Amino acid sequence: MLRIVAALAALAAAAASPMWEKVARAPKHETLDFTVATPMSNVDGLQAAFEAVSDPDSPKYGMFMTKSEINEMTATPGWMKNEVLTWLQSHGHSCSARSDSIKCRGSVGAVEKMLSARMHTYQHSKTGDLVHQLDGSYTFPASMEGKIDFVSGLSGFPVEHLGRARALTGGEQFTVPETIVSAYNLQGAKGSSSITQAAVEFQGYPAYAQDDLTTFIQQTAVPSFDIVKKVGPFNGNEPQPESTLDVEYLGAVGGGNTNWYWTEQGWMLEFAQDLMNAGESGTPDIVSMSYSWSEEDQCQISPNAPSCGAGGVAGSKAFVARVNAEFAKVGLNGITLVASSGDSGAHGRTDPMCQRPITTPSFPASSPNVLAVGATQFDASTITTGGSSPFCQANSCKMGGTEIVCSTKTGAAITSGGGFSNVASTPSYQSSQVAAYISGPGVPAAGDFNSTGRGYPDVAALGHAYYIQLNGEAMAVDGTSASAPVMAGMLGLLAAKKGGKLGHVAPLLYKIYEADNSAFNDVTEGNNFCTESSCDCTTGFKATKGWDAATGLGSPNHFKMEKAMMKILNL
Ligand SMILES: *[C@@H]1O[C@H](CO)[C@@H](O)[C@H](O)[C@H]1NC(C)=O
Repeated sequence: MLRIVAALAALAAAAASPMWEKVARAPKHETLDFTVATPMSNVDGLQAAFEAVSDPDSPKYGMFMTKSEINEMTATPGWMKNEVLTWLQSHGHSCSARSDSIKCRGSVGAVEKMLSARMHTYQHSKTGDLVHQLDGSYTFPASMEGKIDFVSGLSGFPVEHLGRARALTGGEQFTVPETIVSAYNLQGAKGSSSITQAAVEFQGYPAYAQDDLTTFIQQTAVPSFDIVKKVGPFNGNEPQPESTLDVEYLGAVGGGNTNWYWTEQGWMLEFAQDLMNAGESGTPDIVSMSYSWSEEDQCQISPNAPSCGAGGVAGSKAFVARVNAEFAKVGLNGITLVASSGDSGAHGRTDPMCQRPITTPSFPASSPNVLAVGATQFDASTITTGGSSPFCQANSCKMGGTEIVCSTKTGAAITSGGGFSNVASTPSYQSSQVAAYISGPGVPAAGDFNSTGRGYPDVAALGHAYYIQLNGEAMAVDGTSASAPVMAGMLGLLAAKKGGKLGHVAPLLYKIYEADNSAFNDVTEGNNFCTESSCDCTTGFKATKGWDAATGLGSPNHFKMEKAMMKILNL
């Protein structure tokens, strides 16, 4: 009763990722963690409940449900989950069932036997990291068809995180917390210890160093803050640019809020599942995620869907749709997900030389159930400098200017990601803004993007030349990786003012824009045609007046956002 499903082409990522080299057959005794997603019940009911609690106009706005209520609502039918569990356990894996997934730990040998497959070990050419994954064909028994959506964790390479640091260069002007306070009008804004904000890092355990954090706080003269809770493994000996940037700016901008740090071994499916199984007080209120990868290259193995890569993208699309539903659960519980829009323009990291004639959306930014944040930079001729912190006394710090799209074309190291999903349709909260944009001059030819899709980013924030303290040194970094924690910190301040969780916040922000469009600094110059590596790209999205797929509604004006929010919510 074995059926050949597909040759694994998750390894499309291999083509885009020459960094990973096959070194050997994976050792049979090696232990693996994987997650089996079983079908969710009541997806329509989930979506309706999620939209109601997220929509400021709904009588149910803000009436978040508990994790156990939500998990019960979407639980896989017991008989079906038991069949899958029995099958997994018969192969010797140690598994525990959740509402609509099964988490397992097993050996390479047992996985190979279960799927009649081979696993190989791959090594990263720079970091030396090892990954064991399926290689070639695999099979599921026909009896599992329709009972397993995906098995996640056995295929695909870790996605490179976005942040990359460089040494400071003389004559450069830096973005520091004082820049954010001055440019985004948040002088005197106060957080609250009852609001919890967390940076999350995926696939491995990138860390920050406490010494760096202490120096950063001293150098930037921000109110002192600590990371009071770490969830997941942590290797403090290896601070990395991404995690360091996230922690430093989330804590500095969301001053007064409680800071957590979360590492997730897996990817988006595992993260959403872990959030929903962490207990009612085991999760942060606001999550900042600075990770992104092509929406059509999120390949996981499945008995139902064809594989990704050369064979087509249906498997990846099904995976993205499932994770979007997972994010709806997270939002229904009141947690705010903030995602950076990606650093490689409208083409993304799987098309770094813009060889495709069309744009390629990135996930999770392309999910309508997160707040996606793009990047801006100041137009060089408009920059004002200043700042009284020790760092700004010794270096030139930016205090303000006119924002344009952050792009390699205009001197940044990255280009703000943006575009339209090929999986999720335009959500109603943004439909009028998106309709105005696609009928205007900012979009490429109709065949280059999906005009019925969810448009992103929703908002933007500075993404160029941030000072961070890393490994005992002052470094500079560019990225939507900076924009996301900055925005997440500002949302933490909004949540403190509101006096509780914001949940899925995008509908509220579009409502604020409609009530007072000066609550956002509109960005009207620049585009995201370029990638990180090339500017020879003929297609992408231009910034225009109003919402656009390079900078969304624009960058935030904190006190104006706050005022409009209080009015909309009758607080
Ligand atoms: C365009 O997006 C819609 C969702 O709005 C999707 O159903 C459709 O398949 C997408 N088209 C392509 C060519 O991917």
